[in-house]
Amino acid sequence: MTMPTRHPFYLDCDTGIDDALALAYLLASPQADLRGIGTVSGNVSAAVGARNTLDLLQLAGHAHIPVALGAHDPQSGAFRGGAPWVHGENGIGEVALETADAELAPGTAAEMLVRLAHEHPGQLRILAIGPLTNIAEALRLDPELPRLVQDVTIMGGAAFAPGNITPVAEANIANDPEAAADVFAADWNVTLVPLDVTMSSVLEESHRQELLAAGHPVPQALGDMLGYYFRFYESQFGRACSAMHDPLAAALAVGGVSAAVAPVVTVDVDTTDGPGRGQTICDLRGRYMDYPEQPGARCRVVLELDGEFAPHLVEVLLSAWPSSSPRNGSPAWADSDAAAGLCRLPLSR
Ligand code: BDR
Ligand code: CA
Repeated sequence: MTMPTRHPFYLDCDTGIDDALALAYLLASPQADLRGIGTVSGNVSAAVGARNTLDLLQLAGHAHIPVALGAHDPQSGAFRGGAPWVHGENGIGEVALETADAELAPGTAAEMLVRLAHEHPGQLRILAIGPLTNIAEALRLDPELPRLVQDVTIMGGAAFAPGNITPVAEANIANDPEAAADVFAADWNVTLVPLDVTMSSVLEESHRQELLAAGHPVPQALGDMLGYYFRFYESQFGRACSAMHDPLAAALAVGGVSAAVAPVVTVDVDTTDGPGRGQTICDLRGRYMDYPEQPGARCRVVLELDGEFAPHLVEVLLSAWPSSSPRNGSPAWADSDAAAGLCRLPLSR
């Protein structure tokens, strides 16, 4: 049995609840070799996000993965205090994790990203699930970065869907529109995972109960955090459930799920101070012609998924941390039979 090819990944996050799920998904994915993590202010401050990330890595048995502190403030203005009503004061739904022994890696998140890109030329894949401040900073540090990086997957923006922080803007982009504009303007392959697909990828209470029932500390902690997240999303969906923003971006990045409709188009970001600030302006005028090629376009905008995401997410997490697994950081796919099962995981329909 052959293991799938593992790709080096850099994760940039603002570790709140769905970031925690995305991190767990990456750790559980045999296709992802997570080489470094940078944090940025968004759901919580970059420092609190780093604390959460270190603690989650220790809980999951991956304390060796380096975590670097990134930008506290966006390019323009100052960090506005995060979203405690969505993610809790501590960013992870008031779940108390054991404090990790590991300390922050030296240097900034942007410096870590540039270093990893040079260590893995043409191979490094970026998954950005918070505001894009660190990624834009890395582009300024090294203008060669786009040539060195294989691709960038971004959770953010809204194409046809409404925004979630203003009528037209999504939180990750709205928290630093100038940085987002720089990232979309760079010459690299970007996959944008906008609210159009993340708001329709819903995790239900039955899925949360499956995580809790596993009896393993990792899915248990995630299930507990989701209890907080569900209470916020009840105001959006009218029932206990939640959208799955960041884990869906992680799954699309590693190929655990695939897109059914994802045209490659130009994307601009509104950086004015008007009501459109933070809007992702995706050129979707080709909609009625099945999106003909747009010369110069380089952003793949995911508009529809090929199947359902939530059952896949639960299955991947429970395969990595089943109830019988000791808390030693060796996910089930480390043994070849389990690996064979996980590699064949279907995307449920
Ligand atoms: C995005 O904003 C944050 O609250 C989430 O973690 C996600 O990255 C959704 O708009
Ligand atoms: Ca996030």
